[in-house]
Amino acid sequence: MDTLTESPLVPRTDTLLDVRDLHVEFRTRDGIAKAVNGVSYAVARGETLAVLGESGSGKSVTVQAVMGILDSPPGFVTRGEILFRGENLLTMPADQRRKVRGAKMAMIFQDALSALNPVLTVGYQLGEMFVVHRGMSRRDARAMAVELMDRVRIPAARQRVGDYPHQFSGGMRQRIMIAMAMALEPDLIIADEPTTALDVTVQAQVMDLLAELRQEMGMGLILITHDLGVVADVADRIAVMYAGRIVETAPVHDIYRAPAHPYTKGLLESIPRLDRKGKELYAIRGLPPSLTDVPPGCAFNPRCPMARERCRTEVPPLYRVTAERGSACHYWEECVGDD
Ligand SMILES: Nc1ncnc2c1ncn2[C@@H]1O[C@H](COP(=O)(O)OP(=O)(O)OP(=O)(O)O)[C@@H](O)[C@H]1O
Ligand code: SF4
Ligand SMILES: [Mg+2]
Repeated sequence: MDTLTESPLVPRTDTLLDVRDLHVEFRTRDGIAKAVNGVSYAVARGETLAVLGESGSGKSVTVQAVMGILDSPPGFVTRGEILFRGENLLTMPADQRRKVRGAKMAMIFQDALSALNPVLTVGYQLGEMFVVHRGMSRRDARAMAVELMDRVRIPAARQRVGDYPHQFSGGMRQRIMIAMAMALEPDLIIADEPTTALDVTVQAQVMDLLAELRQEMGMGLILITHDLGVVADVADRIAVMYAGRIVETAPVHDIYRAPAHPYTKGLLESIPRLDRKGKELYAIRGLPPSLTDVPPGCAFNPRCPMARERCRTEVPPLYRVTAERGSACHYWEECVGDD
C-alpha cells in the first residue's frame, strides 16, 4: 500500500511553513519523554490548519519548536526540519531566526494575562512592536496601537490605550493579544487554544474575529484547539495528533464526512450533533499513553475498538488515503467504509 513519506500536507503553491519529520524529546529525571515523534505538516498562505488531539499529544510542543520557544533543556529537537519559506529555521543563525520570529510569524497563547506584561499599559506593549521593529517614535507607535485596538474591535480604543491588562475583560485581553500578533502583519499566525479560557459566547466572538482578520490579511493560520465544533467553520485542513504523531490528516470536509482513523472517529462521535440525537455520546475509553512508555505497535491500540494482533507489533505508517489525505491506521479502509 502507498504510504506518505513526505510532508502529507504540502500545498501545491505558496507554502509558508513545512514541518518535516520533527522529533522532540524531553530529557527528565523520570526518563525520556518522546513528545513529538515524526510530525510533518505544512501551511500555505491563506490557509488554516487545525491541529486536534487530547491533552499531552504534542500539539503545543510542535509549535513551540516552530517558534523557537521550546523549553530547552529539558526539551530537544532530535530530528527533522522546519522550513519557513524554504529555509530551515533549525539551522539558521540565531539573530536571523529572531527576526523571522518577530516579524514573519507570531503566536497567540491561551492565557493573555500571563502573556502580557502586567505593569505596562496595553498601548505601550502594542506600540513597542512598532518602536522595536519599525523604528517608530513613541508618539506614532501609540497612534498605531489605537488603530490596532480599533481593528480588533475594542470599544473606546482611544480612551483605553493607557489602561493596564488587568483592567480589561478576558475576551478583550484576548483581542489585545490578537492585535499584538497581527501588528507587524506576519505571514503566519499560530494560535494555541486561543479561546479555551473564555466563556462560550465570548469564545465564538473571538474566533470569528480571528477568522475574519486572517481572511482580510491572507496569512496562514495554525489553530490548535480541543473544540471540534469550531473547526468545521474555520479550518481548511485538519491534523489529528496522538502520542506525538499525526494519526490522520485531511481536508476538513473529508474528515467530517468519513474519518479514516478510529481515533478521529472517536473524537467526532464525542461532539453532540443534532442529527445524532438519541444516540449515546461516545467517549474514547481509557487514557493516552505515558510518553516515556508508549505501547509498541500502534500507540492507540490499548484504546482502539478495532485493534487486532498486528496493531500490537507493527507501527502503522501514514498510509495515503487520497492525494491530500493520510491515515496512520493499518485498517483505515474498514474505518472509512464503516460510516
Ligand atoms: N517543559 C516540559 N518538560 C517536560 N516535559 C514536557 C514539557 N513540556 C511538554 N512536555 C511533555 O510533552 C508532552 C506534550 O505536551 P504538549 O504541551 O505538546 O501537549 P498538548 O497536546 O499541547 O496538550 P494540551 O492539550 O494539554 O495543551 C507532555 O505530555 C509532556 O510529557
Ligand atoms: S492500527 Fe490498529 S490499533 Fe491502530 S488505530 Fe488502526 S485498528 Fe486501531
Ligand atoms: Mg497545549
